[in-house]
Amino acid sequence: MIALTVNARAVKASVEPRTHLADFLRDGLNLTGTHLGCEHGVCGACTLLLDDMPARSCITYAVACDGARVTTIEGLDDDEITTELRAAFTREHALQCGYCTPGMLISARDLVLRLPEPDEHSIRIGLSGNLCRCTGYVGIVRAVRSVIDQRRRRGVLPIPDGGRRTLGPAGSGNSANASTSDIARVPTTRAETRDEDNGAMVIPDFAPEKFFKQEFTVAYPPGRVFDMLGDVTQVAACLPGASLTGVPTPERAEGMIQVKLGPISADFRGAARIERDLENWSGRIVGTGSDQRSRSSTQGEIRYRLVPTEQGAATRVELSIGYSLRGMLAQIAREGLVRDLAARLTADFARNLDLHLLGVESDGSAKRSQSLNGVLLLIDVLRTRACKVLRRVWSR
Ligand code: FES
Ligand code: FES
Repeated sequence: MIALTVNARAVKASVEPRTHLADFLRDGLNLTGTHLGCEHGVCGACTLLLDDMPARSCITYAVACDGARVTTIEGLDDDEITTELRAAFTREHALQCGYCTPGMLISARDLVLRLPEPDEHSIRIGLSGNLCRCTGYVGIVRAVRSVIDQRRRRGVLPIPDGGRRTLGPAGSGNSANASTSDIARVPTTRAETRDEDNGAMVIPDFAPEKFFKQEFTVAYPPGRVFDMLGDVTQVAACLPGASLTGVPTPERAEGMIQVKLGPISADFRGAARIERDLENWSGRIVGTGSDQRSRSSTQGEIRYRLVPTEQGAATRVELSIGYSLRGMLAQIAREGLVRDLAARLTADFARNLDLHLLGVESDGSAKRSQSLNGVLLLIDVLRTRACKVLRRVWSR
């Protein structure tokens, strides 16, 4: 089940995991203004606004849009800029068959919002992701230029970055219109900051944007589990895909974690600060990391609490996880998916923790096989979700 806003209307629907957003809109909601051309993210015919940013709906899973705000060409009927663009397209002969036009209008609208000048070069670059196979681009560019020109002459100023939070990619839920003061409050994770004295990565406190809880039980007393969680090397060995890049101390560790999610693989390198409270068998780990290749960055916080069960013979580990994610990965890793992946990660971690407490060391190959392979996790997540759907269908 997903809940999202489509053209200012709240929509709740059950969707197949592999249904892309364009099919969901066209087949499920009869919003056929979103056209499909290549279905490979190349032609731009399917462009719409996701959280106010142009996005390709053919390569965006509908389930990944849970909580997002979607605006299709139908939702821009009364939009001022789109109305001006429609008139300009007609006037400048900027369309023939009209197949590319909905996507073209949505990309053009974004340019009208942002470009200070009707500069042809910038417009051509801005529209380079939208292909037109029959009209050619002269009329289209002329139409967009004329709208920008008229609006600037009327004193309508461009909105830097379209009024969005600059770090929020389409579909992340973080690209909503924001005032300057909002922008100042958005946690920035773009560049790692180093301490001037010792060169160590600074781990700032932050307010996580998303939270969820996890728990698991291990058949060992809390004291033993707490000791084990204090051994950073052992913890890293239990965490799929994680490795240390320096010698850790009980308060701090630097390392990396490999994530492969769909077409994007990322090596998040970063550092974590560790706090422990022996009296309450609890602790907190705050970390920050970034991946150059996918230009994604994250900040995360894990709080844990150990609760004795079975008269103290076993331990329930309660986790509270908060995170903020920026960049390309944020575009595909929506909240539900991250939560499901974290559940798998926690289950793998719990199993490895059990083995370590039992005294079984995993060899290198075993460790590699435990790496956080998002594809495998994703398949597993989708399989689990598919089973749930089938169970629901059969129980009707
Ligand atoms: S149909 Fe989506 S980019 Fe071509
Ligand atoms: S108007 Fe026909 S493809 Fe653009």
